[in-house]
Amino acid sequence: MPIQTTSKIWHNGTLIPWEQANIHVMSHVIHYGSSVFEGIRCYGQPSGSAVFRLPEHMQRLLDSAKIYRMEIPFTLEELCAGVVDVIEANEVAPCYIRPIALRGYGEIGVNPKGSPVEVYIANFPWGKYIAGHGGADVCVSSWNRLAPNTMPALAKAGANYMNSQLIRMEAEANGYQEGIALDTNGLVSEGSGENIFVVRNGVIYTPPLANSALSGITRDSVLTIARHLGMPVVEQALPREMLYIADEVFFTGTAAEVSPIRSIDRIVVADGKPGEITRKIADEFFGIANGLKPDRFGWLTPVKVNSSEPVTA
Ligand SMILES: Cc1ncc(COP(=O)(O)O)c(C=O)c1O
Repeated sequence: MPIQTTSKIWHNGTLIPWEQANIHVMSHVIHYGSSVFEGIRCYGQPSGSAVFRLPEHMQRLLDSAKIYRMEIPFTLEELCAGVVDVIEANEVAPCYIRPIALRGYGEIGVNPKGSPVEVYIANFPWGKYIAGHGGADVCVSSWNRLAPNTMPALAKAGANYMNSQLIRMEAEANGYQEGIALDTNGLVSEGSGENIFVVRNGVIYTPPLANSALSGITRDSVLTIARHLGMPVVEQALPREMLYIADEVFFTGTAAEVSPIRSIDRIVVADGKPGEITRKIADEFFGIANGLKPDRFGWLTPVKVNSSEPVTA
């Protein structure tokens, strides 16, 4: 889907016109993938709008930067304020927010230390990410997720998404909506841009972070919601075949939100309809995000923009 432009982008503490948010082709990030970024959603509320789990996302940005020895010259509070400022300046909500910190124009060698760190925050409208009404048809990818101690999976780094691109393109080339990657030991890891949950016999399972998965904020939200609803949840390594015999399978992610999976490798999950546990969790997740249920976990940061329409399941 083409990017829908807005008016302003936050750059190093200042709002600049969208068209002027450019970088030089010789910037370090272009050659060596040296960026860390976030994806955040702002949801419509009955009155106004609210960003979902803003501090947690910005803390993950700072964590990703720390792993790569990238010094970001802004505090958590300043980055969160930047997100609110750009949304209010553009008056676009609901929206998707894309903060990115990158190594800019400086030196050409691999060592990034001589290239300045630039921080940008953009926001724009973005609807549903995983297609498939009533559940997505997905495959297990022939590509593995990043091996431990190669590319750090806990850093949300631009370079990691070369692996994600391979997974996603292969899936779509073969007629699926998304791919599920295994880790280098053959255990279930995650989708190209989503964490994965499996339900079997009333227990909710998701792979632990040690299986090369990103520490998804939506993953954490679902774990929190499930525990709150009294549902048993287990973070444990999952063999591939658990996917085929599951009662329910769903993806979670900021872009994907809570997306049921209908089939994996053409093997239908249960009766092919979103299961009861998936529906209960999605209902609570969207209820909180859209301000229709109490913000019982303190996940919403209000912004002063009247939403055009709520982003819903
Ligand atoms: C590889 C990968 N895993 C998982 C997720 C889900 O993370 P979150 O829920 O924080 O968006 C994402 C999306 O950011 C992702 O790109």
